[in-house]
Amino acid sequence: MKVFENFSLKAYNTFGIDVKARKFISVTSIDDLKTVLKQTYSDQLFILGGGSNMLLTKDIDATVVHLDLKGTEITRETEEYVLIRAEAGENWHQFVLHTIENNWGGLENLSLIPGNIGTAPIQNIGAYGVELKDTFYTCTALNIQTLEERKFSLEECGFGYRNSIFKNDVKGKYVITSVTFKLKKKDHLIQTNYGAIDTALEEMGIDNPTIQDVSKAVIKIRQEKLPDPKILGNSGSFFKNPVISAQEFDTLKLKFPKMPSYQISDNEVKIPAGWLIDTAGLKGFREGDAGIHINQALVLVNYGNATGSEIWSLAAKVQEKVYDLFNIKLEAEVNVF
Ligand code: EPU
Repeated sequence: MKVFENFSLKAYNTFGIDVKARKFISVTSIDDLKTVLKQTYSDQLFILGGGSNMLLTKDIDATVVHLDLKGTEITRETEEYVLIRAEAGENWHQFVLHTIENNWGGLENLSLIPGNIGTAPIQNIGAYGVELKDTFYTCTALNIQTLEERKFSLEECGFGYRNSIFKNDVKGKYVITSVTFKLKKKDHLIQTNYGAIDTALEEMGIDNPTIQDVSKAVIKIRQEKLPDPKILGNSGSFFKNPVISAQEFDTLKLKFPKMPSYQISDNEVKIPAGWLIDTAGLKGFREGDAGIHINQALVLVNYGNATGSEIWSLAAKVQEKVYDLFNIKLEAEVNVF
C-alpha cells in the first residue's frame, strides 16, 4: 500500500476540483482496508468511491481512502435469475454493460450513470423510472470502528428517493465493500414508460425492445442531455427534485400553468428542479468557470478551473432565485465537503 501526502484529488472527483488530501491511500483488498482503518482514527478518515456525487470545497485534512476493490462473482444461479456480487470499486457503467452482455435484466435503465458500485446504494441511484433498490439483493459493509463485516438486506437499507440508511442512521459508520444484485435471466421487464425512452427507441426504429435496446436508448438520451464528466466537470443532478404539497402545487399552477409534476402520494407532488432553474432563467448562466449547463439546468459544471467554493456559491444563487420565484427550497443532491 502506497501512502501519498499532499495529494491532488482532481482526477478523483468528476467535478475536477483541485483540492489536496493530507494523505491518500488506494486499497485493493479488504485486508488492506482493515489495516488502514485500524491505523486511522475514524474522524481522520475520508472514504472515496468514484467521486461522482461530491463537491469538494476545501482541502481534505484527513486520510483519503480510495476504494479500489475489484471483481464480480455469481453467487447463485437458477433458470430464472442470477445473484451477482460486484466489489465496491467496480465502475457502475462497466458493470451494467457486463450484465447486459449476458442478457441479465434489471439494470438497463441505469446505464451510463457515473460512479462506482460501492457508492450506488448510499443514495439509491435512479434514472428513467428505475432505482437501484429494484434489483438490490444485499450489500456487505465494514464497520469502521469494530472492523466487523455486516450484511445489509433490502429492508435494512431503508431505500427512498436518493436516500438510504447510509445517509441517515448509520451515516459515516460503515464502508460498503460489495453489492449483490438479483437480475432476471428471462421474461425481462422492459420499462419504457419514461417518455424519453420511447422517443429514443422510435428514433432508433425499434418496436419490440430488448434490454440491450433499452440500454442503448438510455445511453443515447444521457449522451445528448448530460455532459460527459471527462470533458466537462460535473456531478450529474446537483439538486434533488423538490417535493411540495398538492395545495402549494395548485397555487403555483395558476401562476405557472406549464409547470411539470409527478404525483407521488395523495397530497405530495414532485417538481423537476431542472424546470424550476430553467424557468428562473438560469440555464447556461456562467460565473467564471462555474456554470449551469446549457442543455440541462439541473447540472452545474466546471468549465476548467472553478473552485468548489465558486460552484457552491453559484448553487446558493440558484437556490435564492428559485426560492424568490416559486417559494420552493432546493436541496443539494451532491454531498458537499
Ligand atoms: N427540464 C427543463 N429544463 C431543464 C431541465 C429539465 O424544462 O433544463 C424539464 C424537462 O423538460 C422535463 C423535466 O424538467 O419535463 C424533468 O427533466 P428530466 O427528465 O431531464 O429529469 P430530471 O428530473 O431533471 C431526474 C434525475 C436524473 C435522472 C433523470 C432521468 C433527479 C434529481 N434527477 O432528472 O438523475 O437521470 O431524472 O430519470 O432525480 C442524477 O441523479 O445525477 C441524475 C442525472
